[in-house]
Parts: sequence; C-alpha cells; structure tokens
Amino acid sequence: MYLGLDLGTSGLKALLVDDAQRVVGEGVGALSVRRPHDGWSEQAPSSWIEACRKACAGLDLSGVRAVGLSGQMHGATLLGADDAPLRPCMLWNDTRAHAEAAELDDDEARRITGNIVFPGFTAPKALWVARHEPAVWARVRRVLLPKDYLRIWLTGEAVGEMSDAGGTAWLETGARRWSDRMLERTGLSRDAMPRLVEGSEVSGHVRDAVAAELGLPRGVPVAGGGGDNAAAAVGAGIVRPGTAFASLGTSGVLFAATQGYAPAPKTAVHTFPHAVPGGWHQMGVILAATDALEWLSRMTGRGAADLTADLGELRAPGRALFLPYLGGERTPHNDAALRGAFLGLSHATGPEEAARAVLEGVAFAFADCADALAATGTRIERLLGIGGGSRSAYWCGAVATALGIAVERPVAGDFGGAFGAARLAMMADGAGAAVATVPPIADVVEPLERLRDAFAEGHARYRAAHDAVRAL
Ligand code: XUL
Repeated sequence: MYLGLDLGTSGLKALLVDDAQRVVGEGVGALSVRRPHDGWSEQAPSSWIEACRKACAGLDLSGVRAVGLSGQMHGATLLGADDAPLRPCMLWNDTRAHAEAAELDDDEARRITGNIVFPGFTAPKALWVARHEPAVWARVRRVLLPKDYLRIWLTGEAVGEMSDAGGTAWLETGARRWSDRMLERTGLSRDAMPRLVEGSEVSGHVRDAVAAELGLPRGVPVAGGGGDNAAAAVGAGIVRPGTAFASLGTSGVLFAATQGYAPAPKTAVHTFPHAVPGGWHQMGVILAATDALEWLSRMTGRGAADLTADLGELRAPGRALFLPYLGGERTPHNDAALRGAFLGLSHATGPEEAARAVLEGVAFAFADCADALAATGTRIERLLGIGGGSRSAYWCGAVATALGIAVERPVAGDFGGAFGAARLAMMADGAGAAVATVPPIADVVEPLERLRDAFAEGHARYRAAHDAVRAL
C-alpha cells in the first residue's frame, strides 16, 4: 500500500493506493486562502498540518510501505531557528513581489535558471520580505516549498526535490543543483536550502511520533515527490516527450514532457526538471482557471457545477468576452498588474452566456500557452484533460477546438498530484519508472471542425482585447 499526499491550494488530499495501483481510500482536509490586499495570497503552514491530519483521519494506513508528496509550487515558507514558520506562506499566485521579480529577472538569472523570474516564484518573495519585513527576515533560517514543509513535519528532514525546486529561481536548472549566485542575489546561501533529491528517491523516514499519530508503520520512507504539476504528470503517465496534459484546476496548466533541457524564457513558458530522474518538462501557466469560474459563481450566487451543467453542445463564442486575468497572468504575458475584464455585455447577457464566456476565455488562455510552447519547438502529440474543470465536456470541447487537438479524458478516478505522489512512493520503494502509465481513457473530446474558424476568430478578439485592456 502507498500513500500519496497532495497539498493543493483549496485542500490537502490523501490517497491510499494498493500494490496494483487501485485507489482504496481517500481523505481531504479543506484549506482556504487569505487575500488581505490586492495581489496577496497567503496560507498558514500550520493549516497544512491540520489538513493532513484531517485527510488521513479516516484511512487505515497500517499497511503503507512508502509515502509520496505533491504540492502547490513556488510558495515561500520561511522558517526560524526551531523550524517554526515566521509568517504566513506567500503562495504561487501571490504577485506582490512584482518589483523584486523584475529586478531579479535579467540575462544572468535567465541563463542560470532557464526561466523568467516570475513574481509568483519563491526568490522574489524572499527579497520582498527582506525589504518590507526586515525583522522577520533577520530570523529566517530556512526557506522551504509548501510540500517540503509537510515533509519536515513528517520526517524531521529539510529536503526538496528537482521539479519543485525549478520554480524557485534559485535552481541552476540544467545542472539540477542550487545556484550559489542566485541565492547570493537574495541574501541567502545553500545553508538556507534543503538538500535536493530526485522525485522517486527516498528523502527520509516518518518520525515515530507522527507515525503513531497518523497510524503509519514505524520508519516508513517518504519519496521526494514533485511539484503538483510534475506529480500530476507522473499520475497521468505524461513522462514521454510528445505527451501533454491540460489541467483545469485552480490554475490552468498546459504541461508537456520534453526530450531534454531546452529553456526558452522569452516565451514565458516554464522549463523545469520532471519528477522522474533525468526528465524535463515545459508548462504554460494560467493563474485563474476554475478560480475564474469560482469568481463568477460568487458573483451570481450559483454553484460552478450548476453554471456549467446545462450548456449543451459546444457553440461558437458569443459577443460576451471574458479575460481571466483576475490576479495577473504568467504565460504568455508575465504581467502581475493585468486584471480581468468582461466585454461585449448586453441587456440580454445572463449567467449562462457569462459562464460560456468564462470557459471560452480560459480556453483562449490555453491557446496562448499552446502557441508559447509551439514557439519553443515543443510538440504535443497527445493531450490529456485533467483537473476538476475537465469534468465539463463543454470546457474540454472549447479547449480542444481552440487548440485544434483532441482532449482525452481518463476514466473516472484520480490521476492528479496525489496519485502521482503515490506512484513516486512506489518508485522509491523499488518499482521502476514503468509504473507511470497513461490511465485508461473514458472519452475523447475532438475539436469541432465546423467551429474552428469561429474559435480562431474568438482567440484573435481575445488577444486584441488583452492589448486594449492592458493599455487602459
Ligand atoms: C505552476 C503553478 C501552479 C501551482 C498550483 O507554476 O504556479 O500550477 O503549482 O498549485
């Protein structure tokens, strides 16, 4: 039996998987995000531990042979002398450090890290704390990513792994090691960084006290795991170059496994190590995917599932046009100041048309990511649709038609970060990388040829709207 823990933004999921990779138990601990100011997004690290306890509470973990971790990326978890958090974690979609990111994002940083230094990455957040909260900064002993904070609680060890480390702007990405130079530029050294392992390596063993509390056997190994996207890719079998997924989660991610390390920071794609040894990937990242629908749901007082339930067959994009930049955007704009917009509204615009516009807007954002990946030479031969939003056939149809590629939806089940983490735990326990197969496919949502032109026009209008809104 293997336990996969995925520390997401809206909850921590615990997935218990047997030796034949069947899911035999599942638990969730809810999490909420604090947004005290525009562009801020925070969570208390202690809430992750509570969520983990809650997620595991109903599960019989006595047969677990190894644990794997997956987690929301980029968060700055600042720890003091006793490894206690010094302030709330600044999450992946926190863009307050945009000035610090712009300052760090030069030729040297791009050469070393292979990426733009996005405001959501970890290093600029550290610099922001150094400048705005010097008393906190003076006490910082270590900086960990969110799932690695869970690990230090589980095992007592400060360890990170490659796929998540890629999103800090402190990694010499091509060499898969910390960059002394990038650390120095934010006033840090390797002493503040966790030791790095590959995602499928053992990173430590669960402490006796925690094992007793959660009902785990003594001394269970914990695998390195992965950033949630790389872990989800392992869960969905996206490890072979040419395979990709579109994840419709809180964020939207177009993730492609790639042949080797081929950075292309100009296009605002992310180039990171994969969670399997020697593997690489590229991603286009949209900051609000289901988060945009959640926003509409709050505005209309109708549940997200309710808003999308009766949309019927895919239609040509209507007059109403939505730009999903509620908290700025990463790919392709790298613009923390950008904000969302609804355009083309009329007296007749109701919740249903608005919902369609939100789904289309996110589909166009995915098309922007696909263009950014294509510009680097990354090819997508096979695309899986995963994440909560992929349950909507309408949304998958819009993405397929906007990208011109079929979206394959796996059979019901969980092939996300928690499942990938469980697979990485299996690998750490001796299984080969071959366990990362593509799940059986339930249905294939083909692009609707007759709507291709309408979606291409819609995408062009979406881009023009971005340019106009940005200028305002
Ligand atoms: C990826 C990113 C998000 C988070 C969400 O770069 O910021 O996908 O990992 O959990």
